[in-house]
Order: sequence, then C-alpha cells, then structure tokens
Amino acid sequence: MIDELHPDLARVLVSEVTIQQHVQVLAQQISTDYAGVDRLYLVGVLKGAFIFLADLARQLTVPHIVDFMAVSSYGQAGAVSGAVRLMMDLREPIRGQHVLIVEDIVDSGHTLRYLYNTLQGRQPASLKTCALVRKQQGQTTFSVDYLGFEIPDVWVVGYGLDYADRHRTLPYIAELKPQAF
Ligand code: IMP
Ligand code: MG
Repeated sequence: MIDELHPDLARVLVSEVTIQQHVQVLAQQISTDYAGVDRLYLVGVLKGAFIFLADLARQLTVPHIVDFMAVSSYGQAGAVSGAVRLMMDLREPIRGQHVLIVEDIVDSGHTLRYLYNTLQGRQPASLKTCALVRKQQGQTTFSVDYLGFEIPDVWVVGYGLDYADRHRTLPYIAELKPQAF
C-alpha cells in the first residue's frame, strides 16, 4: 500500500494497525471509566471524527448513543483564526447526561474549547473530551481527557482527516506534501 501512495502524500505517519491499537486502548479506558453509567452520550465532531467515532463506539462495552455536531472555523483549511462557528447542533438535550466529545485532531484547541464551553453550559452530568491525535507544538492549552497519540506539526490526512475534503477515507494517517496545499 505504501508503494502506491497518492502523489499528494509525503509519507504514512501512522499505520492502520497502529491506529486500531490506539483506538482499542482508548475504548478500554473509556469503558473502564464509565462502567456503571447507564448511558454515555457520544458527540462526534463532523466531519473529521466520523470514522474514529465509528471504530471507537463499536469497541465500547458501556451503553452509549451517538450524536453529532458540526463546526466550522473561519478561513480555509490550515488557517488558524480561533473563531469557531456552530453549523449543526445535537438532536437531544444533554442536561443530566454523561457526555463525551469525540474529535479527530487537536491543533490550537480552539475547536474543542468552543465545544466544551458550549456543552458545559447545558448542564450535563459530566463532560469529557477524547481526540485521536494532537499536534505537538506546545500551543495547545486545552487538556484532552482521552488522547490517542501525538504527531509532528504537519498537515495530515486520512482516517477522517481531510485537506479540502480530500483523502478522508484512507485507512492510515499520512502527511500531505507542502506542494499539495
Ligand atoms: P484546532 O481548533 O486548532 O484545535 O483545530 C482542530 C480542527 O482543525 C480539527 O477539527 C480539524 O478539522 C482541523 N485540523 C487541524 N489540523 C489538521 C490536519 O493536520 N489535518 C486535517 N484537519 C486538521
Ligand atoms: Mg475537525
């Protein structure tokens, strides 16, 4: 598969096997921590988290439901503005529920902080965050409760992550070539 890399891609950063191992570890931690809770309300952040959420949810041993929110950052892919806009909200009220936000990647942390503050205002019984990937750049001040792994500060695609909606359904996470921007 690696010798058939798309010309936009520089290299595979995280293989499919490694991703699935991290997903399993996260699912076990979450299942342990929420054992005994009647229902965990999973909030996937569209579009990027839909594949991670699908794999994670299917490994959970705690009862759960799946819902989605969509947000958009002002500016195009890669722009760091800090302004986050709500594009699609949850289908149900979350007051009194145990809520876990599931995000694909944390960079500046603005997206997760916005979602956290928004949902915290609705008085859930508990609110935590889970992200598969965090970029190591020291700028992230938002502390994620469940984190898969860290990657260098490069633009990545695959496993839900995109560049201009491309490469989202690759089974691995790959670095985009700078000239593909
Ligand atoms: P933050 O708000 O700066 O933490 O950025 C998080 C959001 O930016 C994520 O939900 C992604 O949609 C997007 N993002 C950040 N870095 C990447 C990347 O390398 N590839 C794809 N999407 C990214
Ligand atoms: Mg996203």
